[in-house]
Amino acid sequence: MDTLTPPIQARGLRKSFRGRLRVDDVGLTVGPGRIVGLLGPNGAGKTTTIRMLLGLAAPDSGEALVDGRPFRDLAAPARTVGAVLDAGGLHPARTARQHLRIAAARAGEDATRVAEALDEVGMSDAADRRIGSYSLGMRQRTALATALLARPGILVLDEPANGLDPAGMHWLRRRLRSFADAGGAVLLSSHLLADVQAIADDVVVIAGGRVAAETSLQEALTASGGDLEGYYLRLTEPRTEVR
Ligand SMILES: Nc1ncnc2c1ncn2[C@@H]1O[C@H](COP(=O)(O)OP(=O)(O)O)[C@@H](O)[C@H]1O
Ligand SMILES: [Mg+2]
Repeated sequence: MDTLTPPIQARGLRKSFRGRLRVDDVGLTVGPGRIVGLLGPNGAGKTTTIRMLLGLAAPDSGEALVDGRPFRDLAAPARTVGAVLDAGGLHPARTARQHLRIAAARAGEDATRVAEALDEVGMSDAADRRIGSYSLGMRQRTALATALLARPGILVLDEPANGLDPAGMHWLRRRLRSFADAGGAVLLSSHLLADVQAIADDVVVIAGGRVAAETSLQEALTASGGDLEGYYLRLTEPRTEVR
């Protein structure tokens, strides 16, 4: 990754489902060392945007670039970007260690790295229990360990705070901060302002498929006179048509 290429860059992304425009001209940039929160109400288009960045959905138009390329053109995807999309989707009959070993085989990593990744998310002790017996927070940690397995410099996390208790949130914040302090870039989504406020440096507010604001958290606080919640609600409230 050279210094001129942003780790994540989306420009003019559009996506329709069944004739309805759900992501409309979305652009965002995540620089190295930054944690960017993609914030918006349910149905705003966060997951669709993230899926386009990860090559899981094709944009109708626009560009979704990771390390300067569309995901499908990455030479070593797992070493470039780690993703957590749906921690609930882990196979319940497997243990975390089994899950990571399968992912490791795919990414060309060994058992030593599996043990390290489990340790990095505080899951060493529970690693040989079945995922079906885990709390949602433990599943989130397992999913994050999978994302970290091949030591990517970029993380993309869809609603990673879901199911985390306060201790889990504290842990996630510190984990992502140390990742960013080491030069990593993080894009995470949330429908909850508090999650983004606790974790992110910058925020992209999305509502009805459009970017309503792209700002640092500090600027948003200043612009709102400290009332971040009011600011967020004003940006995301459904527009009433004036005729
Ligand atoms: N595969 C799909 N088929 C049809 N509609 C979809 C599909 N994926 C998302 N949508 C619709 O697109 C909109 C944005 O969804 P999504 O990106 O999941 O929002 P968010 O993650 O912000 O809650 C919603 O109205 C959702 O119903
Ligand atoms: Mg979503």
